[in-house]
Formats: sequence, structure tokens, C-alpha cells
Amino acid sequence: MAITDCGGTRATLLMCVFAFIISVCKAHAAAPAVYVLGDSLVDVGNNNYLPLSIAKANFPHNGVDFPNHKPTGRFSNGENAADFLAKKIGLPTSPAYLSLIGATPPITGVSFASGGAGILNETGGFLFKQAISLAQQVDYFTVVHDKLVHQLGPSGAQAHLSKSLLLIVFGSNDWFAYFRVGSIVAKQYTPQQYVDRMVSTFKVLLKTLYGLGARKLVVTGVGAIGCCPIQRKENRTGECKVEINYWSTKYNDGLKMMLQGLKSESPGMNYAYFDTYGAMINLFQNHETYGYTEIKEACCGVGNLNADAPCTPLAIYCPNRKNHIFWDLYHPTESVASLFSDLIYSGSQQFMVPINVEQLLAV
Ligand SMILES: *[C@@H]1O[C@H](CO)[C@@H](O)[C@H](O)[C@H]1NC(C)=O
Ligand SMILES: *[C@@H]1O[C@H](CO)[C@@H](O)[C@H](O)[C@H]1NC(C)=O
Repeated sequence: MAITDCGGTRATLLMCVFAFIISVCKAHAAAPAVYVLGDSLVDVGNNNYLPLSIAKANFPHNGVDFPNHKPTGRFSNGENAADFLAKKIGLPTSPAYLSLIGATPPITGVSFASGGAGILNETGGFLFKQAISLAQQVDYFTVVHDKLVHQLGPSGAQAHLSKSLLLIVFGSNDWFAYFRVGSIVAKQYTPQQYVDRMVSTFKVLLKTLYGLGARKLVVTGVGAIGCCPIQRKENRTGECKVEINYWSTKYNDGLKMMLQGLKSESPGMNYAYFDTYGAMINLFQNHETYGYTEIKEACCGVGNLNADAPCTPLAIYCPNRKNHIFWDLYHPTESVASLFSDLIYSGSQQFMVPINVEQLLAV
């Protein structure tokens, strides 16, 4: 009888199939949401809404490899690390917070990332006139948290956030601000004082996020930013700038220690740290193994190493983006963002400490 019932009505069968697909899809997402805080490496369009910012990418040739060649505000020829990470988790890319214009944020997460943003409030203004600093992004996260409490109730919001990932990508711009010509902060602080200031500011803000219920943090260190085209062109030999790389590693050391300390004083908190610096150096050294033939010059830009000007419609761009490490004067190609996302998600302890994202999702 039961067999005839199920096989007998096509509608029932379809409903069975549907229910099965839905349950599989739901089970597939390894976290309910991804909240992104960061800079241009993960900006998916917030800066399009900042009237004063000169860090913009919502015009060609950005997005040349995006569906329909669409420039979106991503500082990339295609997708960035936030897109790839969301995909791996089984979620849509978290949309730009400012694009929501007051609407209820999707339950699968939001992105506060802003090109030019720093850990320190003043960084974005120094470099690009306007950006959403880490502190401001945490303020926005607080707004989203309050909406979640309204939607799901306090315990519902807590359960949701405790399983969600927070992707936090910061630090490069603070160093660009420190080492730029005519830097005011370099007159005020020694590099070591600046490291301490960055790390302690970061810690206070991570504690705020923890207080709001965040439990799973994915934090990236600063990369070998002295090797990006805009820095290399300042070295006569075309090699990396040594000082900014050195202080980036010093900062990363401080960051790693801070995260360890924070975990030990924050019950239930876990993190996955990505050694962006190490991964970049490894990529430069073994670039041919990974299929990259051009490691110095930006794909899109103007002049020396295509790093005299950003990627705009007036710039030239390379025919093969897959063999370039850098898309423009600061940013990696989509291909490198994808490679690094693989490492972040499931890479070994060579670059992911103490655990990778796959393991972080399982705790
Ligand atoms: C940084 O900006 C935030 C607002 O986003 C403010 O609350 C905080 O006091 C500022 N921090 C410093 C050190 O000025
Ligand atoms: C330029 O590159 C060379 C070779 O790596 C390095 O020894 C030198 O310190 C670099 N110069 C600067 C200003 O970073």
C-alpha cells in the first residue's frame, strides 16, 4: 500500500525529491553565515557607496573575467578570496553592507570590507581620503547583531553567530600608510610602537566581536606587500622592498601571539590564521610549479611594472590573467585569490595555524 501510494502520485514523489534536495542543500552549508571585515582584498562593493574614497574599482578593466565582464567594485579581474571562501562553505557571497541601504541583511552573512581600510582609524583617510576602518566595520557588525537579535531572539542570534565564520583581512594598508612618502605616523611612532598599536587596537575590536557572540574567526596576516608592483618599482633592482616586508613579518608575529592570548582568555573562541606572507614567498619561489610566469608586473596598469597608475579604462591589461600573480599595482589576480582560498580552507599547518577553515567549521 505504502509503495503504491508513493509511486502512485507523481506529486508526492516530486515532494519527496524536493524535500530530499532541500535537506541535502541545507546540510551542505558548513556554516550558517560568513561575515566579512576587511580591506580591498575582500571588498565586494562597499566602496562604490563612499562618495569621497578614491579607492574604487567599479569600472573596467576590473571584472574582465567576472560573469558578463562586469566591474563590481572588486579589485580583481574576477572573483576575490571572499567569493571563493563562501563558495567552498556552500553559501552565496556575503553582499556589501552599504548596498543593502537599510534592508534586512541576508541570514547568510554580510560584508563590511572596504578598499583602503586599516586597523587604525586614520589609515584609510591618509591613503585614499575615505574608507571604512576596522572600528567602523565593527560598529556596523553591531547593527547587524542587533537586527539578528530582533529576528531570531537573543538565544537564536547567539546560536547563529557561534556557528558563523568571521573572515577578517586587515593590516596591509596600515603599513602602506606608515611607509608612504611624507608619512605623519612614521614621525609619531617607531615601527615597533606602530606594531604594538596595530595589535592592541585589533585585540580590543576582536574582543568586542567576541562579546557580540562571534566564535569562529578566520584571520589573515599581512602578505609580502613589499613585493607588490607599486613597491617593487621603488626598488631599482625591481626586487621587493625590504623594510616594509620586515615590519609586516614583525606585525604578523605580534598578531599570532595576540590571537593565541585571546583564545586562552575567551572560552569557546577558535581561530584559523593564514600566513599570507609565507604563502606569497612560497608562490614567488615556486611560481613555475603553480603556472605563473609573470611575478613582478601587474596585469592591468600603466608604465613601469604597470604600477605607475591603477587599473582604469585607460590602462592596458594582459591577455593571460592566469599566468600573472598581480592583477593591478596592489592586488592579486583571481587565480591567486583562488589558490590562497584553497590553502585557507583546507591547507596544511605550513600556512594555516593552528587549524584551517575546514577544521574550524568542525569544532
Ligand atoms: C576609531 O573610530 C571609532 C568609530 O568608528 C571610535 O569609536 C573610536 O574611538 C576611534 N578610535 C580612536 C583611537 O580614535
Ligand atoms: C632592493 O632589492 C635588493 C635585493 O633584494 C635589496 O637588497 C635591497 O635592500 C632592496 N632595496 C630596498 C630599498 O628595499
